[in-house]
Amino acid sequence: MLKPDTVRRKLIGRIIQRFEDKRLEIVEMKMLKIPKELAEKLYEEHKNKDFFKSLVDFITSGRVVVMVIEGENAISVVRKMIGKTNPLEAEMGTIRGDFGYSTPDNLVHASDSQESAKREMQLFFGK
Ligand code: TYD
Ligand code: MG
Repeated sequence: MLKPDTVRRKLIGRIIQRFEDKRLEIVEMKMLKIPKELAEKLYEEHKNKDFFKSLVDFITSGRVVVMVIEGENAISVVRKMIGKTNPLEAEMGTIRGDFGYSTPDNLVHASDSQESAKREMQLFFGK
């Protein structure tokens, strides 16, 4: 998912370009403003963290682009391409390392396991 900061900063094209350059395949894509209830479901695992409210406020603050990306080992490849959660710790050459400076506005979200990928595809694409 390209988060609201990516959309606001007009980085959609440049970030999608990286996934395509890597030869990953975008098989589903849509733009939406995430309702609060959906944001709370998406980030359910963090509901007791101190950053939960600011995370939900941020992710619902503007439009996002959600995608299903296919490819061999796509989950780990995409996670590697986005870099560490905190952009100040993310390596240069990763999306968060190159474009980010803070959290929660770290540009992209990506599923971290097959289980979360299935769950998140169901949340956004209903299948
Ligand atoms: P998390 O799932 O730990 O990171 P990732 O996005 O790399 O899978 O956290 C979800 C989001 O919550 C993260 O992208 C940004 C936000 N966040 C904060 O705002 N502060 C924090 O200390 C952490 C760990 C995350
Ligand atoms: Mg996560």
